[in-house]
Amino acid sequence: MAQPGWIGGEIVAWAQATARTLLADLDNRLSHVEAVGRRAEWVGQHVCDEDRVPLLAAAYLHDIGYAAQLRVTGLHPLDGARWLRAQGVDERVCNLVAYHSGARFEAEERGLVDDLEAFDPEEGPAMDALIFADMTTARDGSYVSFQVRLTDILIRYPPSDPVHRAMVRAGPVLRGSIDRTLERLAAAGQPMYGSAALQGSAGFAAILMGAPLAR
Ligand SMILES: [Fe+2]
Repeated sequence: MAQPGWIGGEIVAWAQATARTLLADLDNRLSHVEAVGRRAEWVGQHVCDEDRVPLLAAAYLHDIGYAAQLRVTGLHPLDGARWLRAQGVDERVCNLVAYHSGARFEAEERGLVDDLEAFDPEEGPAMDALIFADMTTARDGSYVSFQVRLTDILIRYPPSDPVHRAMVRAGPVLRGSIDRTLERLAAAGQPMYGSAALQGSAGFAAILMGAPLAR
């Protein structure tokens, strides 16, 4: 596999190609990842320049740790981030992948916190936007509300599973990232996210109910 480039969108193209290669055999996973990438591209119009490329690259790469050939610990954000670091990928991309969508909680459930802490926690608009994109995109790539997405995960994994336990605890934190992203979109003047929408208009209700985002 070619080495990732670091200028402009080169790493994003590499991220897309890498995800397609590594996730091709996993049911629905690639559909989900490509939809998360498109969602991040849309949200990424409203993050600062230095956040945009890491966000987009991480969106396409966030689930590569599910690939059988990358699996080591079973904590897919950690397995993915380790592999990316070994490829020489930019540390911010590795950090975003390592901590995406409540990974710290799952690391605690699996006794892998020390391993995860080999990466620096990433907080801020880029992580919030990544969580927004991931947690409002279903397994099949359709756009859904956070509640629908979270419920699907909790149904798929039984209460005894570390993923289930982690997501129960991570829910409020993930909700915070989504709310902050919506507030940033509103501040950027996105019509569907205007202040009236945030107060409960039909537009915002449509987002919560899972309507597709305009691009
Ligand atoms: Fe995902």
